Amino acid sequence: MASEVRVCDDDVFSEEAVRNAREVDDRLRELGPVVRLSREKITVLGRYEHVSNALKDWHSFSSRSRPWHDPDSVRPEILLVDDPPRHTHVRNVVSTALSPRAIARMAEHFQADADALMREVAARGGEPIDAVEEITQAFVYKVLPDLLGLPQAGREHLYAFGHMVWATLGPPNALFAQAMENIGPVIEWVDQCCNRENLDPEGLGMQMFLAADAGQITEAEAKLLVQVLLSAAADTTVMTMATALRAFSLFPEQYRLLRAEPALLRNAFEESLRWDSPSRMAGRIATRDVEIEGCVIPKGERCGLLFAAANRDPRRWADPDRFDIRRDHRGHVGWGYGIHACVGRVLALLEADALLSACIRHIEGFEPAGEPTPWMSAIGHGPARLPIRITPAAA
Ligand code: HEM
Repeated sequence: MASEVRVCDDDVFSEEAVRNAREVDDRLRELGPVVRLSREKITVLGRYEHVSNALKDWHSFSSRSRPWHDPDSVRPEILLVDDPPRHTHVRNVVSTALSPRAIARMAEHFQADADALMREVAARGGEPIDAVEEITQAFVYKVLPDLLGLPQAGREHLYAFGHMVWATLGPPNALFAQAMENIGPVIEWVDQCCNRENLDPEGLGMQMFLAADAGQITEAEAKLLVQVLLSAAADTTVMTMATALRAFSLFPEQYRLLRAEPALLRNAFEESLRWDSPSRMAGRIATRDVEIEGCVIPKGERCGLLFAAANRDPRRWADPDRFDIRRDHRGHVGWGYGIHACVGRVLALLEADALLSACIRHIEGFEPAGEPTPWMSAIGHGPARLPIRITPAAA
């Protein structure tokens, strides 16, 4: 027998909701297994079991028409908005280019950049610094465009571009309008810098065009893929590493444990991703009536899978708000799951290896130096500014 879908009338994507995203998402999860957002006319799932099942079942939860999907938006229309078979052949190109073997050669460069950065940061021990601007963003915004082979000119537009693409994943509200202010020069930059003739022939971006030459994808798809990599790889990694540093400042015994046992580094990074995921929600559309705990999601309904809430679901995770680098984090949905699971995971892990191991070498401890300022994005989540104070490691 059908149960009643719970209804939430709140605006869960307003500025106030974004400032309190953890509480808002946890409340939605606890309201019921299936919750309809009356303002947005979409249905959200927040419980781990249902989110992970939906991610596995792309036949029932298609990616082709996600909530608020506007094919004319600034978002590159490829991969995340595709189902098989187009998704499969395009994804093959990207996953070959991002395979562990293909990008292992980057490890040395990442280590060198991270070491230089953290040596400078350590020299400023004692004074408050913004860990986003001065550590995680400084690192990712250097290594990512280098890796893609983008020209130097115009790289200052990287944040605005990523922020705009994230905005298109959410509703057309005030935050959306703010993200779209003055987009002209940003769009012009993206359009130019992702062209074949402007990319470094040795870079990752050019590999998309080589796949076009080999007939695997079209020239237009190659350009869209460079744009996707640019937007998907930047703020996710910036935010997750910033969250790790925040967790180290709030749970100093966990950072001490990590310094004592550096082999836990990947665990620490994965736990940061579980503890406070940078993607609040991913959209899907139901292709048939789907029943969950007696509640029916009708065919054609646009849905949101609440990644961050599922990663803190107490039905799945013991003491979910505790940051525990020894936790068995396997199965968290911070990378998504199923056919759309993050194709850049290996690269993000390589960046995290480099930056966090440089932290271990150069920094003895992190302390909060004020409240973080949230990233004002309806769907993206994490600190935009993170004031911390560091104690340098003894030389
Ligand atoms: C810590 C960093 C990262 C996190 C937390 C993250 C998270 C995610 C998540 C949750 C998804 C699935 C979205 C969905 O199912 O709708 C995804 C997909 C994707 N990610 Fe990442 N990502 C990260 C880094 C990267 C990097 C470094 C790249 C590129 C080099 C990248 C490229 C992509 C792409 C292209 C997709 C779409 C895959 C598909 O549709 O098949 N991501 N990511």
